[in-house]
Amino acid sequence: MLVSLRVKEDEFTVTPWEVTGKVDYEKLIQQFGTQKISSEILNEISKVSYGKMHVMLRRNIFFSHRDLDLILKDYVEGRGFFLYTGRAPSLGMHIGHLVPFLFTKWLQDTFDVNVYIEITDDEKFLRNQEYSLKQTSEWSHQNILDIIAVGFNPDKTFIFKDTEYIRNMYPLVVSIAKKLNFSQVKATFGLDASSNIGILFYPAIQIAPTMFERRRCLIPAAIDQDPYWRLQRDLAESLGYKKAAEIHSKFLPPLASSSGKMSSSVPESAVYLSDPPKTVEKKIMRYAFSGGQATTELQRKLGADLTVDVPYQWLYYIFEEDDAEIERIGSDYSSGKMLTGEVKKILAERVNLMLEEHRKRRERSEESYSRFLYDGRLAKKMWETIHS
Ligand code: TYM
Repeated sequence: MLVSLRVKEDEFTVTPWEVTGKVDYEKLIQQFGTQKISSEILNEISKVSYGKMHVMLRRNIFFSHRDLDLILKDYVEGRGFFLYTGRAPSLGMHIGHLVPFLFTKWLQDTFDVNVYIEITDDEKFLRNQEYSLKQTSEWSHQNILDIIAVGFNPDKTFIFKDTEYIRNMYPLVVSIAKKLNFSQVKATFGLDASSNIGILFYPAIQIAPTMFERRRCLIPAAIDQDPYWRLQRDLAESLGYKKAAEIHSKFLPPLASSSGKMSSSVPESAVYLSDPPKTVEKKIMRYAFSGGQATTELQRKLGADLTVDVPYQWLYYIFEEDDAEIERIGSDYSSGKMLTGEVKKILAERVNLMLEEHRKRRERSEESYSRFLYDGRLAKKMWETIHS
């Protein structure tokens, strides 16, 4: 049973390749048929994480899931699970791309589990006429350095680039491809007769890592990737694997608007991990969409609308982890005690602090690069599971 991917109600669209409009996440849960992250689930997580709760869980940024309860059950009952996430490489990673990786690292630290990270240079190449494989391959390398800098455990993390690793995945990929028919993929991804046949086949490649182990797989990602997992869940059991579980995040909004998602192709709407401090400051001060009032007098009188204010939302998503402090900023800003310029300044400082730390770690990524890449263990294990 497939649910159409394109949700175009009240002017918003969420597909793996496009997010536009002000996303109504409640509606998305209904349309996609996922589950809300309930307080019961949070309590269960809290029990196994000894009370520690990632800020993005506390604040409902990771807001939806499929089978997260089964993952926790597998963990508690000793069967374990593994994590899988990925990235379609581009010239530079922006702060939105960090959301799933930061959270995946927290899950790895908390549950001490394997993480598989797929770098889809093939997907990027196939989706964009203007990109060459040489480019997507070079970007892969640069993006992997950023991903390593997030701090994954090198003994339990495998990072692989599709065009390199494909020979090891291919038996699994073709087994999956044989279970998917043209109309399913076409309907799920909104493809048409002019779509190239590579992109039609590609979903089998993104699904394959969910079957790298016989244990249940948990996928942390923004909710745009859900269509792949719907296909996976339709066919996994027929191949002897478990349905993938998922935990979905909302989208960090672009700088210049509170709707859509940050995009690498609109430079002024994104802060890149490589942006120098002055650029970060300039982008935030100049472009960040404000929910504050047009004049200081009006702001003092009416206060800011936090639901559309991008600087506040960025602080809320990742940059201000202290619950008391975000509460204070929210109440001072919405009551008019604080002005937009002050909130933007706090954000610029926080972003620069994080990026400075990130860049320091990234300088050391190259040293440990080979420890994260394919070393034969994974292929051997997979071959055995496919043929067992
Ligand atoms: P990509 O490269 O578009 O995005 C990488 C990851 O970042 C998430 N993401 C965001 N999260 C929060 N706010 C944003 N503004 C934002 N923009 C992007 C995406 O949901 C994704 O998790 N096809 C995938 C690559 C992939 C993958 C996977 C992703 C292959 N296997 C398994 C997740 C899980 C892609 O194009 O991601």
